[in-house]
Amino acid sequence: MFKITAPRSKTEFERYYDLRWRILRAPWQQPRGSERDHHENNAIHAMALNDEGHIIGVARLHQINKTTAQIRYMAVEDRWQGSGIGDALLRDLEDKARALGVQLIKLNARENSVGFYTKRGYQITGPGHLLYDEIKHQKLEKRLDN
Ligand SMILES: CC(C)(COP(=O)(O)OP(=O)(O)OC[C@H]1O[C@@H](n2cnc3c(N)ncnc32)[C@H](O)[C@@H]1OP(=O)(O)O)[C@@H](O)C(=O)NCCC(=O)NCCS
Repeated sequence: MFKITAPRSKTEFERYYDLRWRILRAPWQQPRGSERDHHENNAIHAMALNDEGHIIGVARLHQINKTTAQIRYMAVEDRWQGSGIGDALLRDLEDKARALGVQLIKLNARENSVGFYTKRGYQITGPGHLLYDEIKHQKLEKRLDN
């Protein structure tokens, strides 16, 4: 079992960023710090905790303007992937976006996770960037029904 919550303390944020880094950056030999950007302080952070209190999934939403937001840095601990955690994190951020009046969510998905997002109503709008010369991305978006 797991629950979705938000990091609050300094220690929780350190563990939250650590999971991001381990899943999304370390396999490509990227340094610590490369898992963050300048939106962190103004973003909505979500994390999944297992029964032992370990962070096993993370995701972030930041608002681009009044009605549009972007989801970035979705990552689930390897052995927990496929357990519904990504789904729960995405729903949590979408609910919070709706509450803010957001009508459109955009994201850039790694090619191997595009299917995860299209299953949840995201539509491909075009090709995205190539990360570290090898990870192809697609641009996707979803209109929220308020
Ligand atoms: C992509 C990711 C966030 C999805 O989270 P997850 O917890 O593994 O996904 P869930 O268990 O919630 O997936 C639920 C559903 O999506 C499907 N799904 C998951 N990954 C998928 C994929 N790559 N392609 C197609 N479907 C996928 C599952 O089959 C499942 O389907 P169901 O609802 O019909 O049973 C996670 O696998 C991950 O962290 N991957 C590595 C890092 C990454 O690529 N992050 C995304 C960066 S854009």
